[in-house]
Amino acid sequence: MNTVKGRVLFFGLLVVCMGLWSGSSELHFLHALEFEDNAHLGVASCASSVCHGKLAKQENENVWLNEFRVWSSDDRHARAYKTLLSDESKLIARKLGLKSAQSADICLDCHADNVTAQLRDTKFQVSDGVGCEACHGGAKLWIDSHTEPEATHADNLKRGMYPTEDPRQRATLCLSCHMGTNSKFATHEIMGAGHPRLSFELEAFTVNQPAHYTVDADYIQRKRSVVGFGLWVTGQVEAADTYLNLLQGNLLDVSGMFPEFSFYDCHSCHHPMDDKRWTLSRKNQGLKPGTLRLQDQHLLMLQSIVQILDQSKYSEFKKLVSALLKAGQSSKQDIKIAAGKLSAWISARRSVWLSTKTGNVEIRSIRKAIADMGAKGLLSDYASAEQAFLGIESLSLYLGDADKVGSVLDQMYNTVESDQKYSPAAFRAVAQKAVNVF
Ligand code: HEC
Ligand code: HEC
Ligand code: HEC
Ligand code: HEC
Repeated sequence: MNTVKGRVLFFGLLVVCMGLWSGSSELHFLHALEFEDNAHLGVASCASSVCHGKLAKQENENVWLNEFRVWSSDDRHARAYKTLLSDESKLIARKLGLKSAQSADICLDCHADNVTAQLRDTKFQVSDGVGCEACHGGAKLWIDSHTEPEATHADNLKRGMYPTEDPRQRATLCLSCHMGTNSKFATHEIMGAGHPRLSFELEAFTVNQPAHYTVDADYIQRKRSVVGFGLWVTGQVEAADTYLNLLQGNLLDVSGMFPEFSFYDCHSCHHPMDDKRWTLSRKNQGLKPGTLRLQDQHLLMLQSIVQILDQSKYSEFKKLVSALLKAGQSSKQDIKIAAGKLSAWISARRSVWLSTKTGNVEIRSIRKAIADMGAKGLLSDYASAEQAFLGIESLSLYLGDADKVGSVLDQMYNTVESDQKYSPAAFRAVAQKAVNVF
């Protein structure tokens, strides 16, 4: 069974963060990628009690200093390697013909900080799982300097700390494991051996990772961080783009006669036969019934963003998406071409969406546009309904009217809570109600 990943549970947190979004992150993206050459020292190097291993959060410091405690006791990343020792992983490894999950790069690449031998310093342990440096970058060149009182965040970045505060960089980082890259990917063969389906939404996953930092005035001054509506938009844009880049790589070809199934909507194949999912809205996208559908959940969320923030380009966008979905039913070569065109188009437009000044009016319209797609039957696939729910919930939190719309949100959650019990008709009915309430 697969449940919706990451219902946003901490309403208060998001409301506090509202309105802190300050536009484009394009500039920061040019950060030199030196962190790739920086040796990894291992979690033990961060965890001492004079560093990030204090027992409790320190009130008079700008960082918590108990980050190691939070990570090791509450964060699933700390257990990522141990997962590879479980019976479930043993079985997956046996079905795939691997010697063991914990020795296979294909598992370690996402379940640990699996850097090359030269980059592993003396205290480094692969069994730490997804440790501090898997996200913050190898610390060799900044471990000493980052504690100096005059060290700025810019200095740290220059020495190779990863800019996790930058929404686009963060999205790329999280997606590298939560969706995959051309060199580490959970193929359908791995799924078929029993790996859970992957899904990701930046806002919800950011909130659901047990917090080890606070975005307050001091933080914003040090890092000029951005959270709120733009985080959701960035997450959708980068998820769509990561997917389009994967489609252009060599993974599409891995399974011989067929294209790689993991790029297609899982539930378009995996659902009971009496539970009909084909709707006329899908036909309007140019698809034929009884055919495979590429995963379009992030593209559909992007559709709502383009519709409201970039109206004059809306039909252009829909044409490019439709061309991609149709290519998904014709040939691998056509998929690569269509994915390349759409990705280039997104690259040219993303700064427009992120720099447009957005207020409650636009956010409300985007929320309604998503509900509207649901009511029309365009979100009949589970992954789309899941993203729609997560998006609608995040947008409601930014709008601060979760109280007013709470009942319809709860009803929607019930329809997407588990993919086993998902009924497209029930989701569509709630989406119709949501249109009326929004
Ligand atoms: C190096 C790979 C890697 C990176 C980078 C990564 N994750 Fe993860 N993440 C994992 C793995 C593997 C798990 C599952 C761990 C387990 O239970 O074995 C996971 C689990 C999670 C979970 C728990 C999911 C659930 O179903 O409850 C959240 C939330 C999460 N990650 C958020 C994030 C966020 C946010 C980022 C980016 C800041 C991120 N992750 C970056 C590999 C990664
Ligand atoms: C592309 C990255 C990626 C690869 C490759 C990968 N995993 Fe995972 N795996 C994840 C993420 C991310 C999660 C957490 C999913 C979530 O909860 O959203 C996960 C979850 C799991 C879980 C379920 C954990 C739980 O507590 O529910 C198991 C078991 C697992 N992986 C085993 C493996 C094995 C064995 C391999 C190698 C054959 C492997 N994984 C390869 C990213 C990956
Ligand atoms: C899955 C990714 C991930 C892992 C693993 C992780 N962090 Fe973080 N960390 C983040 C993100 C995202 C932020 C928030 C953005 C930022 O400030 O860079 C953050 C922020 C921080 C901050 C900055 C707080 C501030 O106010 O500036 C510190 C310090 C920190 N992490 C330490 C650690 C330590 C120590 C570990 C290991 C015990 C760790 N992190 C593990 C993702 C991660
Ligand atoms: C083109 C259709 C298709 C798509 C799309 C597809 N699968 Fe599959 N899947 C299959 C087939 C065929 C099998 C083999 C079933 C069997 O062995 O009986 C299978 C097997 C599986 C199994 C093992 C089931 C078993 O009975 O042992 C899992 C788990 C799975 N797929 C998950 C996924 C996930 C997750 C996705 C999306 C990322 C996905 N599938 C996408 C067709 C598909």
